[in-house]
Amino acid sequence: MKKILALILALMMAFSCAAFADTLTMGTNAAFPPYEFYEEGDIVGIDAEIAAAICEILGCDLSIIDMDFDNLISAVSTGKIDFAMAGMTKTPEREENVNFSITYAIGVQSIIVPEGSPITSVDDLFAEGASYMIGVQQGTTGDIYCTDDFGEEHVSKFKTGADAVAALAAGKLDCVIIDNNPAKAFVEANEGLVLLDTDYSEEEYAIAIALENTALLENINNALATLIDNGTVESILAKYIPVEGNE
Ligand code: ARG
Repeated sequence: MKKILALILALMMAFSCAAFADTLTMGTNAAFPPYEFYEEGDIVGIDAEIAAAICEILGCDLSIIDMDFDNLISAVSTGKIDFAMAGMTKTPEREENVNFSITYAIGVQSIIVPEGSPITSVDDLFAEGASYMIGVQQGTTGDIYCTDDFGEEHVSKFKTGADAVAALAAGKLDCVIIDNNPAKAFVEANEGLVLLDTDYSEEEYAIAIALENTALLENINNALATLIDNGTVESILAKYIPVEGNE
């Protein structure tokens, strides 16, 4: 009897937050609709909802902290936050510093231009003699790819994607390169901007967890797999991205 109780207890520990803490702290950068943004002072969106559903399965509370995107990985590895969920792309470089969960969504880098722009496709950016100023969010994959492809002198880096889009709307940039769903949201919110349907690069979004916290990685992966299997992730994605699928 005692043994069975001990086993049940051990199982409960392994599959609940009791193994870590009563509250899991998520770090994000909440200027990235529809994944994370402010609504009446609260951080809401796809990531906030999936994180809440994960915490419900794990039996713990969720607390969300907003920070600069390029501080998220170090906040995870130093233990300031338990995990980062920020429409964050799984990349080999980041995987040197954190573990990533299973993939829960797909993102594609897209180009935002002002109406009437000479840039009509990604090829125009690479064209012979092309010299454009591209806006990106600092530390994102868009930043990394553009800096690699076009050089520092052609890339203007902003704290948030929203800041980059504001600079574009003010005529200070030729285009902004950012993930497709935030791009759609920014274009809808700003008159005079157009989204080019050229896809620059396709990426997998996942949750970042400290390398040594393998128990949390396993728990989050189990919870996320359940939420993918039972359709919860799909319906959260569909709620925020009503049209063409879940990209
Ligand atoms: N997917 C891109 C990356 O991982 C951009 C993510 C930006 N996310 C945010 N919440 N601002 O680099």
